[in-house]
Amino acid sequence: MKRIGLFLTLTASLIAGSAFADEAAEGAIKARQAMMQLFAFNLGVLGEMAKTAVPYDAEIASAHAGNLLVLSKMSQNGLWPQGSDIGSYPDSAALPDIWSKYPDVLEKDKVLDAAAEAMNAAAGTDLASLQGAMKAIGGACGDCHKVYRQKK
Ligand code: HEC
Repeated sequence: MKRIGLFLTLTASLIAGSAFADEAAEGAIKARQAMMQLFAFNLGVLGEMAKTAVPYDAEIASAHAGNLLVLSKMSQNGLWPQGSDIGSYPDSAALPDIWSKYPDVLEKDKVLDAAAEAMNAAAGTDLASLQGAMKAIGGACGDCHKVYRQKK
C-alpha cells in the first residue's frame, strides 16, 4: 500500500511536471511545423510551375518566391527549445542531433537562406530561371531533413 502510494505520488508529480513543461514546447513545435508547412506550400506552387504542371506566371511565381524569402528571414527565436525533440514529444519529428550537433543546423539554415535569395531573384524572370533555381532550394530542405528530421 505504501509502495503504491509512493508510486502514485511520483506519477502525479511527473505528470504535473511534464504537463507544465509541455505547454511552451508544444506551442513551439506547432509553430515551427506551421512555418515548415508554409515553406512547403509556397515551394509546392513553384514546383508545379517548374515541371509545367501549371502554366508559368511570372507574377505568381514572384509572389511565392517572395514568401519563401520572407519565411527564410523569419526569426526562429523560441521555436526550437532544448529538449523539444521526438524523444520527449512524439508529435515532433525533430531529432535530438539538432541540439547536440549545434550549430551545424544553422549552417543548413544558411544554405536555405541563400537558396531562397536565389529563387527570389530567378522566379519572376522566366520559366527556365525558375527551373534552374529549384534544385538548390529543394536540396536545402532535403539536406537538413536527411539529418535532423525523423523519417516517416
Ligand atoms: C535547417 C533544417 C531544416 C531546413 C533547411 C528545412 N527544414 Fe523542414 N523540418 C526540419 C525539422 C527539424 C522538421 C521537424 C520539426 C518538428 O516536427 O518538430 C521539419 C519539418 C518539416 C515539415 C513537416 C511539418 C509538420 O507539419 O510536421 C515540412 C512539410 C517541411 N519541414 C518542409 C520544409 C521545406 C519545404 C523546406 C525548404 C524550403 C524545409 N522544410 C527546410 C528542418 C528543416
